[in-house]
Amino acid sequence: MSLRSNKITWLLAALLVLASSAFNGCREDDEDQVEVLTPPPTGPGTPPPPSPYAFDIPKHLAAFSYNIPADNPTTVEGVMLGKRLFFERRLSINNQLSCGGCHRPEAAFADPGMAVSLGAQGQQGERNAMAIFNVLWSQKPTLGFNWNRSATTLEEQAFDPVTHPLEMMETWPNVVNKLQNTPGYPQMFERAFGTATIDSNLVVKAIAQFERTLISANSKMDNYMLAVLNDTSQNPPTLNDYLTPQEARGFNVYVSTAKGDCFHCHGNVNLNNPLWTDFDFRNNGLDVNPDSGLASTTKNPADLGKFKTPSLRNLVFTAPYMHDGRFQTLEEVVEFYSTGVKDTPFTDPLMADRGTLNANLTTQEKADLVAFLKTITDSTFVNNPAFRP
Ligand code: HEC
Ligand code: HEC
Repeated sequence: MSLRSNKITWLLAALLVLASSAFNGCREDDEDQVEVLTPPPTGPGTPPPPSPYAFDIPKHLAAFSYNIPADNPTTVEGVMLGKRLFFERRLSINNQLSCGGCHRPEAAFADPGMAVSLGAQGQQGERNAMAIFNVLWSQKPTLGFNWNRSATTLEEQAFDPVTHPLEMMETWPNVVNKLQNTPGYPQMFERAFGTATIDSNLVVKAIAQFERTLISANSKMDNYMLAVLNDTSQNPPTLNDYLTPQEARGFNVYVSTAKGDCFHCHGNVNLNNPLWTDFDFRNNGLDVNPDSGLASTTKNPADLGKFKTPSLRNLVFTAPYMHDGRFQTLEEVVEFYSTGVKDTPFTDPLMADRGTLNANLTTQEKADLVAFLKTITDSTFVNNPAFRP
């Protein structure tokens, strides 16, 4: 391609960007229209094979195994393309809504302030948009994605929002057509997958690759866990070196079986689960007549009201809480575990390990527990430019 025709292509792309942002539908993202420009390929011939992406796994997460589909290895080029696609509004019917419109980087990829998200035409969804981080570890043979495990891999998960009538409302042939005709994309697919012919499988593969790179592991609690791991001295670091007295008391409420007893589902008493979730599907006793939850996927009545256990990481950014966003604050969540747990045949027995369903915490213990939950906040994750459009 000559320099001049490059310039024209870039100009056309810029015009397209302007034109598409002029069509305002009901739903608007705050983010700027994602840039779709990419430098033209260098030199003649076939592009070089993509370079493997090196995951930067922190030491305290190294013990956790993960499972990447053999037919979708993570590559630098695939991740870069996946990020573009994650923030690409052409995935929606009116070019207004991207994945990132409901999963916002500044909110740990949840939809801040929204109990349920709004679809491409402003319509209300059914459930609270889930935060997305550390999903690399979420994919195990028996586990999976979405509140009700309706998908078992990230690739499979990414198909659904595009065509969902309450989300992006688009068809895959339209998406593929739009991308194929957007300057820059064919080259990016060629570099990531060796073909400039776009198809839906490649789109979801690239998006899944990007999602696997969303690692959050830098909070006060992470610093403490790493210090313990790295320590070789006679005096190992203590929690009190890292947390305020109130936060440390809150941790004790969290791990004490007689008190909060939260660790069964959200982590481990020995502080060796920095993921802060078992990634399993459980009924925590929210409702007497629960939403079907996992049962809608398995058709097993024993799974009524079971939802994916969310991580307790980054809660400061992800309110409101629970699958339907019913709680606005962490104080409300803790009050629920203290006095509001419902005794139903489906409530997880782990909720009553202390002998009573409700934790019945004192005012002080509740405040301490909330203070502790806020220590698992990773501000570098939400500000990481690698995860921004
Ligand atoms: C309209 C808002 C909206 C859009 C757009 C959207 N999502 Fe979601 N996302 C949600 C909601 C709501 C859930 C929970 C769905 C459920 O369980 O019913 C979810 C769940 C997820 C999960 C599951 C996380 C987990 O831990 O199990 C992933 C991954 C995800 N979305 C990725 C995407 C991708 C990729 C796109 C774009 C192709 C996308 N989302 C577009 C709202 C949205
Ligand atoms: C039996 C397993 C279990 C136990 C024990 C448990 N939780 Fe949960 N927790 C869950 C599940 C499952 C959900 C999601 C439920 C839903 O949305 O329907 C959840 C949701 C939450 C949320 C909302 C997170 C979000 O992103 O929406 C917070 C915060 C939370 N739990 C904190 C706690 C605390 C604090 C304790 C201890 C007092 C605790 N949990 C005990 C299973 C458990």
